[in-house]
Amino acid sequence: MKKAIFPILGLSLLVIAGGLSPARAAQDKPVSYKEEVAPLIKKYCGGCHGDQNPRPAARLVLTTKQGIEKGGMSGKIIKDKTSKESLLVIRMRGEGNKQIMPPGRGEKPKKEQVDLVARWIDEGAKFDIE
Ligand code: HEC
Repeated sequence: MKKAIFPILGLSLLVIAGGLSPARAAQDKPVSYKEEVAPLIKKYCGGCHGDQNPRPAARLVLTTKQGIEKGGMSGKIIKDKTSKESLLVIRMRGEGNKQIMPPGRGEKPKKEQVDLVARWIDEGAKFDIE
């Protein structure tokens, strides 16, 4: 009897836990540059790295596809389509002995938002725009 009940119980718990987690459901869908990454970057980074800025910080424009692909004074900010190698994420995490982005008292993206950008890169950094 025991043997029959436990697998069924385990399975139903899995189903319930899966159904209750919206984060897990969202992970099945690739991150959208247009819908998710671009608005986030515009909000937190556009002030200094905007395409309308006559002198974007670090010569880095983050609000256009061209700008992101070109990179800044240190070169490419997306490397090997790997978030761990990409300055875009490294700087938002404050890693690599450089100041965290955005610097100073500027409002910072939440960890989940940085993770979203990281996932976008790891999924191939695709620009779902024209
Ligand atoms: C208040 C202005 C400001 C904001 C807002 C800002 N940055 Fe920066 N950023 C700078 C400055 C100044 C530098 C150059 C100095 C440095 O590297 O720390 C820089 C440098 C960088 C670099 C390094 C570029 C290179 O080629 O070396 C990256 C990557 C970067 N920022 C990403 C971001 C991201 C992502 C955001 C938004 C989450 C952001 N920044 C928001 C001012 C800003």
